Amino acid sequence: MTGPDTNQPYNVQPSMIVTNAHANPGLDGQTEYDTASDMTPGSPTDSFSTFSMTSTMNDRVFREDGGRRFQAQNDEQELERLECQHRVFKAVQADSNYLAPVHSSLFNGARALDIGCGTGIWAIEMAQEFPKVEWIATDLAPVQRDSDLPDNLHFAQNDITQGLPFPNESFDFVHSRLLVMGVRNWKAIVDEILRVLKPGGMVLMIECDFPWGLPGVSEDQWAERARGHVKFSDYLKMAVENRGYDPQAASRTIASLMRSSGKVRDISQIESCLPLWGWSEDPHLRRAGEIMRADAEDIPNSVKIVIQDACEVPESRYQEIKVGYLADLGKPGAHTAVPIFHNYGWKV
Ligand SMILES: C[S@@+](CC[C@H](N)C(=O)[O-])C[C@H]1O[C@@H](n2cnc3c(N)ncnc32)[C@H](O)[C@@H]1O
Repeated sequence: MTGPDTNQPYNVQPSMIVTNAHANPGLDGQTEYDTASDMTPGSPTDSFSTFSMTSTMNDRVFREDGGRRFQAQNDEQELERLECQHRVFKAVQADSNYLAPVHSSLFNGARALDIGCGTGIWAIEMAQEFPKVEWIATDLAPVQRDSDLPDNLHFAQNDITQGLPFPNESFDFVHSRLLVMGVRNWKAIVDEILRVLKPGGMVLMIECDFPWGLPGVSEDQWAERARGHVKFSDYLKMAVENRGYDPQAASRTIASLMRSSGKVRDISQIESCLPLWGWSEDPHLRRAGEIMRADAEDIPNSVKIVIQDACEVPESRYQEIKVGYLADLGKPGAHTAVPIFHNYGWKV
């Protein structure tokens, strides 16, 4: 990120940061699917990622990634982490569940879809805020919640890389947030979302970019201000790339795919961030950073295997990188954060 060094958040003044991304609309000749059942092996969906659910046994769900088998059940620690992350998003957004102008698409009787809903907390709160909208929330892993759910919300288990189990043009609003480590082929995802979206319906896709930097600080000052963070973030970006994910899906790829589909109008992007600690003078960003800090301190542990595997980093070197990153949490001037981009538009 570049720009003046300021404590003003990117997110609380959306009018300043919504950028019009209209340029170069055009058809790309992509295949249209008549129904989700077209999305089977051997069909045009072979272009989908190999990251896919392969079996279910005793409610335990597995996915394959690069030939390795992972449990796709979100465990308790992961669920807590996701709930914390949700609170950080809300704090950054001045206690709102969205920055984009969603209201006109969430009219009484509208149908809305949240893809990769995690714990389901965002969908639950949206279903409460918009009780006349019918909400469906999907995830690769089964969503397990003990509390009473709003009557207007239903969960479904689905791997988006295998297509969505809904007919064409069935939703007025489709949302996804932080799928970046679950999706390699963003074109297939954008095409699939546009397939299930009704003409006039809104698509809103929120993702993070790599590397993580210092929002509002010119990039040439990042290393001077937060050398340890920059080093850690460089390794994280390398791991993301080496595993075949797109480090710029958030800032570039998604908006570009919306444009090249020729099916989305008024494409816009809001730039925001998740501060890793409470460095900001803006009260919303400061609170977000304070909520994020414990999670931020644990990030080197949670991505350790990913970085060590993908970048072949020995244990002693990893410990040095971790110590450097942790030293920048709380260091004056080290305004470290995860860059977030909200991409949205309306289907023509
Ligand atoms: C970082 S979490 C974000 C959860 C939620 N969207 C939020 O912002 O709180 C990513 C979620 O995407 C889900 N996910 C990953 N790959 C997926 C796929 N191929 N299809 C559906 N969900 C997927 C994961 O199970 C996880 O719950």
